[in-house]
Amino acid sequence: MGMTGRLGTGAIVSGAVRMATHGAPTAPTLRAAMDPQLQKRIVILISGRGSNMEAVVQRRAEQRWPAQVVGVVSNRADARGLGFAAASGITTAVVEHKAYATRDAFDAELARVVDAWAPDLVLLAGFMRVLGAAFVQRFEGRLLNIHPSLLPAFPGLHTHRRALQAGCKAVGATVHLVSAELDHGPIIMQSVVPVRPGDDEQSLAARVLATEHVIYPQSVRWFVEGKLRIEAGVVHQTEGASQVLI
Ligand code: GRF
Repeated sequence: MGMTGRLGTGAIVSGAVRMATHGAPTAPTLRAAMDPQLQKRIVILISGRGSNMEAVVQRRAEQRWPAQVVGVVSNRADARGLGFAAASGITTAVVEHKAYATRDAFDAELARVVDAWAPDLVLLAGFMRVLGAAFVQRFEGRLLNIHPSLLPAFPGLHTHRRALQAGCKAVGATVHLVSAELDHGPIIMQSVVPVRPGDDEQSLAARVLATEHVIYPQSVRWFVEGKLRIEAGVVHQTEGASQVLI
C-alpha cells in the first residue's frame, strides 16, 4: 500500500460483512476475537531469543485481540524463540540463510514460506537479516519492525553502545513500518528511557527491552484492530491514543 490510508482494516471490513449475514448484535471486535475466520493472521520472523515475539503472543492471548499468530519463522535453526513458539502451539519454520547462495534467493524462499501462511501482518522481531527491496515491497504496509533506538537516530547495529558513546541522555525503541531503507519507515510508536549514571550497554539494553515488550504488542494490537492511519508518511492512532511510552 502507499503512504496514505488506513492500516490493517481488512478483517474489520470482512467482520462487518460476516456480521450482516449472521445478523448478530455482538460487537464486531468481540466477534472477531472469537471467530478464527475474522482474525488477522500474524507471522513473526525471529533470529534468536524471541522475547518480543513472546510478548506479542502473550498479550494477544491475554487481551484477546482479533488476531492469531499463525507462524513463526527463523533464519537460524538454533533460535531460542522457536521453542517457545512450538510450546505455544504455533507452527514454526526455519529458512537457513546459509543455505542460499545469494540474498535474493534467501529472500525469495523466505517470502514463499511467509506467503503460505497468508499473513495480514508480518512482524520482524529481532530478525537479524537485512531484507531486500523485493521482500519489503511484497509485504509493504503490513510489515513491522522493532528497533532498539529512537529512530531516525542509530539505525543498524550496536545502538546502545553508540548512544552511550554519543553521550545521549535518553534512549528508547521504535516500532515502525518497514520501508526499503534499513531501519527506516513510518513510525508507529516509540518508548523513551533515561540514560543513568553508570549505565553500560547491558543495563541500557535491558531497560529498553522492557519497554519494547510494551510498545510492540500495543502497536500490533492497534494494527489488527484497524486503529492506525497513515497520512503523508506519518502514522496516527485513530483514537488519539499516545504513541509514545515515557
Ligand atoms: C530487540 O532489542 C529488538 O529491538 C532488536 O533485536 C532484539 C531482539 O530481541 N531488533 P528478542 O529476540 O525479541 O528477545
